Amino acid sequence: MSSFIEQEQNYIKSKIKECGYDIDEVVLNISSRPEFGDYQFNGAMSMAKNYNKNPREIANEIVEKIKFDNRYQDINIAGPGFINITFSNESLINHVNELYNNINLNYENDNPKTIFLDYGGANVAKALHVGHLRSANIGEALKRLASSLGNKAIADAHLGDWGRPIGLVMLEIKKRHPELPYFDNNFNGEYPKESPVSNDDLMEIYPLASTKAKEDENYMEEARLMTASFQDGNPGLMALWHHIMNVSKTDIKRIYDRLNTTFEVWEGESDGNKYIPEMTTYLENQHIVEESEGARIIDVKEENDDHEIPPLLLVKSNGSASYETTDLACIWERMQKWSPDEIWYLTDARQALHFEQVFRAAKKSHIVKDTTKLEFIPFGTMNGSDGKPFKTRDGGVMTLESLLDLAKSECEKKILPNITGEERDKIADMVAIAAVKYADLIPYRLTDYNFDPVKFSDLQGKTGPYLLYSTIRMRSLLRKADEVNISYKQYTKINNKIDRDIIICLLSLRSVLTKSINVKSLNDIAEYLYKITNLYNNLYANNHILTEEDKTLQESWLVLTKTIYDNNLKLLNILGIEVPEKM
Ligand code: ARG
Repeated sequence: MSSFIEQEQNYIKSKIKECGYDIDEVVLNISSRPEFGDYQFNGAMSMAKNYNKNPREIANEIVEKIKFDNRYQDINIAGPGFINITFSNESLINHVNELYNNINLNYENDNPKTIFLDYGGANVAKALHVGHLRSANIGEALKRLASSLGNKAIADAHLGDWGRPIGLVMLEIKKRHPELPYFDNNFNGEYPKESPVSNDDLMEIYPLASTKAKEDENYMEEARLMTASFQDGNPGLMALWHHIMNVSKTDIKRIYDRLNTTFEVWEGESDGNKYIPEMTTYLENQHIVEESEGARIIDVKEENDDHEIPPLLLVKSNGSASYETTDLACIWERMQKWSPDEIWYLTDARQALHFEQVFRAAKKSHIVKDTTKLEFIPFGTMNGSDGKPFKTRDGGVMTLESLLDLAKSECEKKILPNITGEERDKIADMVAIAAVKYADLIPYRLTDYNFDPVKFSDLQGKTGPYLLYSTIRMRSLLRKADEVNISYKQYTKINNKIDRDIIICLLSLRSVLTKSINVKSLNDIAEYLYKITNLYNNLYANNHILTEEDKTLQESWLVLTKTIYDNNLKLLNILGIEVPEKM
């Protein structure tokens, strides 16, 4: 169904037509001066131009046509022809009942899309870091938003499971255990079922091997050979690769689970790589691949470029594939398997050039349709509390898990003392995820911000825990009403401005969701949640709902409470935040 404001827009449009004017679209904007009206219509200005008339005159005609309508309490004209609209109580009451009866309103979507999202990108055998946290939070929320607006959204974990890091890890395992059969090219028995390494081993091995490679050119060369050899399908190394994959994937899944981050598809770079041969043949037949110093490249620069876009390196001179080729092959695969209308990629802004090259090559070669939208959705960085890139106390890189643990220990302090043991631990986890996600989603996507667990866990501020706490309180009010058998079915009475302001805020929900999906940032939804929760808390603080003697008013308040509660659950869910039973 269409939203309240959309219905109002259509109604005014029909009235304008009755006045004898043609207008494509009526847009009502939230009033910046609420003392003059709830919403404003500014269309008289452009109509005046089209019809060569005075805008005030047109505004007058429109107002004369609708001013006695019982949907409005007041209509007035300001300045050169702005029409200010204040809705009647009757309209607002109808709207609350509509929402109350159907909070999960499926808004109309005339043009649903299949959207494929790429926001995982965790690397096998390496710890997840802050960048993975941001792509998971923003990507998951965008996926949930896209599907709640009627699209089909599919996310792929897109694990980094095919690169040099794996070669490095294998090399270090070989140095420690050269006797293992994986490294014996003459071995033809069955490889062991048990993995020779645990995830903890991997977490220790990778940073060490990576440092060694940086310091020792020979070690680096050995790692390169190891990587080339497993990518070439050496059976022993493939068997070892499978072990590393299993061990690491289990742990990566656990962490994404902790973050309420879900993927419909669990593929990785290696899956796309299988398509490289057929894709390369196709590209060669398109005659867009050129030779350059022993390598095969695709020129992707365009006439109007204002910065230099180097060619895409399709096949390196040593015969191996580049990161760009892998992403191109993944697009090839995705078009075949899921034929998406759009593919959205989330990584930090440093990968902008990479995606530019890949997207251009995909378009130029017609691997995607002209209409397929390939979108890079970068984000700013989360820094330490000093505003500098995140480091542990001893100067190392902060893993995502240790960061979550920091937030958890702050949030744990805020939980009721009578919640203990395992339950306390579980709730602390949920509150921490709310704290971290909300803090991550409230700045505009490209803005950098600082990690500040004390601030993020504050029960009073603009925080996830504040929203959880308030939402839980709404629920417990509704439960108490049930316990004393107060039933509530209909909204009938707007008590005063406090109540009215809440309803006006509810009206703007649809436009907030639309704006968020258009700019692909969750900040407006996060702000909206805070605003409506605050407005509700004001009502809660100023009234004693459960002991109110005016029963119609009490019933109205409970209906409003339930509507806001459901609305909060829905929006928190879009942000990937779960509400605990208590905290
Ligand atoms: N694994 C990469 C990293 O950690 C991110 C992958 C992003 N997605 C992609 N299709 N390239 O930086």
